[in-house]
Amino acid sequence: MLRSRLLKLSSIAVAQRAVLQSTRSIPARSASYRCFASQHVPVTHKRSFGQPTPFTHPNIMKKGEVTPGIAFEEFETRRRNLMKSMPANSVVVSLGYGTRYMTNNIFYPFHQNTDFWYLCGFNEPNAAMILEKDDSERGYKQTMFVAPKSPSAELWDGPRSGIEGAKEIFGADQAYENTGFTRYLQKVLSSAKSIFMDSPGEQPTLLNEASKKLIETGLKVQTVLPLSKLVQELRMVKSTTEIEIMKKSGLISSKAFVEAMKWTEPGTTEGQLWAKFDFENRVRGSTILAYVPVIAGGPNALSMHYVRNDMELKDGDLVLVDCGGEYNGYASDITRTWPVNGKFTEAQRELYQAVLNVNKSCIKLCTEANTISLHGIHNHSVKIMKKELENIGFNVNSWDLERILYPHHVGHYLGLDVHDLHDLDRSRKLKKNMVITIEPGIYIPFDDKFPAKYQGIGIRIEDNVVIGKDEPFVLTANSPKEVVDIEYCCENK
Ligand code: GLY
Ligand code: MN
Ligand code: MN
Repeated sequence: MLRSRLLKLSSIAVAQRAVLQSTRSIPARSASYRCFASQHVPVTHKRSFGQPTPFTHPNIMKKGEVTPGIAFEEFETRRRNLMKSMPANSVVVSLGYGTRYMTNNIFYPFHQNTDFWYLCGFNEPNAAMILEKDDSERGYKQTMFVAPKSPSAELWDGPRSGIEGAKEIFGADQAYENTGFTRYLQKVLSSAKSIFMDSPGEQPTLLNEASKKLIETGLKVQTVLPLSKLVQELRMVKSTTEIEIMKKSGLISSKAFVEAMKWTEPGTTEGQLWAKFDFENRVRGSTILAYVPVIAGGPNALSMHYVRNDMELKDGDLVLVDCGGEYNGYASDITRTWPVNGKFTEAQRELYQAVLNVNKSCIKLCTEANTISLHGIHNHSVKIMKKELENIGFNVNSWDLERILYPHHVGHYLGLDVHDLHDLDRSRKLKKNMVITIEPGIYIPFDDKFPAKYQGIGIRIEDNVVIGKDEPFVLTANSPKEVVDIEYCCENK
């Protein structure tokens, strides 16, 4: 881990290289060792890349795929659609993210900028792509800037796809070391008519360094137009391939909920349940949890973003879990609430059924035929929630309902990001193959203006739904949510 050790170890590296070169004399394995020695990269494969490829991961990828489940043609279509929507001589500068650090030298798991990933599938840090619209047959030129193959860096950080990989796998017409990004950007900025590029904000990207240099050299940056909104428009309606991946993503996360419900008992800690979810998702092929989960026992559920997840689950309480895995790039986002001891009390069941009725009523609206938006579904959810609460004895005004008891929106778009398409508002009419969440919730504080038997209870039921022409498709249907199904699941350990 510590790079400072590198210098001290350089003599060992030289010795290792000598050993490797000597292995070239073994005839039966000469081909693979020749490759090994010529690249000076400690790999176990003939060829190595910075992410799964059909060569290295035939168990999860088919020939022609750039990322698991997504073929080269689909990425090409995405780029082409983007460039087609732009005026002549436009240039797109798409930035990948850099490594982010938890503490000195210790990095977080890498997560790519999803717009960049959507356009090329490249999943290594410190990369960028420039697309220049032209009148070639392809319609644009694709230039990528990537971390080059480097024996010393790869010894520490693992294999990279390098410049050749960027061309061969990711379709670049030309590729350069990422250190050449500023110079190329400078050239492009001085000649292009329209530049589409986003400010990376706090995220580390190649642009941070580049901008400093551009300012130093006094280069006047011409009008830069936002890119992300255009990419988000393309990301709004999912392709058949994306829906297939999201089906699997939803199924994996749903199964994790089944296992977690079976496993919960009084005395289990929120932290243990977090570990259980991590295991049950990743063992089924998720690469990472899509967000820090909420695992909230009893009144901890009253806090929307309770992520400490460090208390013991108590007999008689409910546990609210908001957790989803990411699978082949696509997020799931599920919430279920169940009894720690496996049986709802009467009060818990009444309140739970109220939220479930709202959840089901909203899911029914998730069709193109309904010409409704997420805001429209939200307004419906508030109306139904009020009725449901009145049926069980609440006398609640709209202010209290929408500010205290049910203070969040009924849902959001879902895709590569958990909160997908963040620049597109929720008043758009839902179309076939858009994917959204439906997640009504109720959180009753310890306040005597609300019925005492419900105080301290927090419940949310969140599903992921593909908008259909006339029927919704629920990606998370395998995660139990009916009272009888949850109790059956909890009982059958
Ligand atoms: N898990 C975040 C959300 O439900 O929006
Ligand atoms: Mn959620
Ligand atoms: Mn959500």
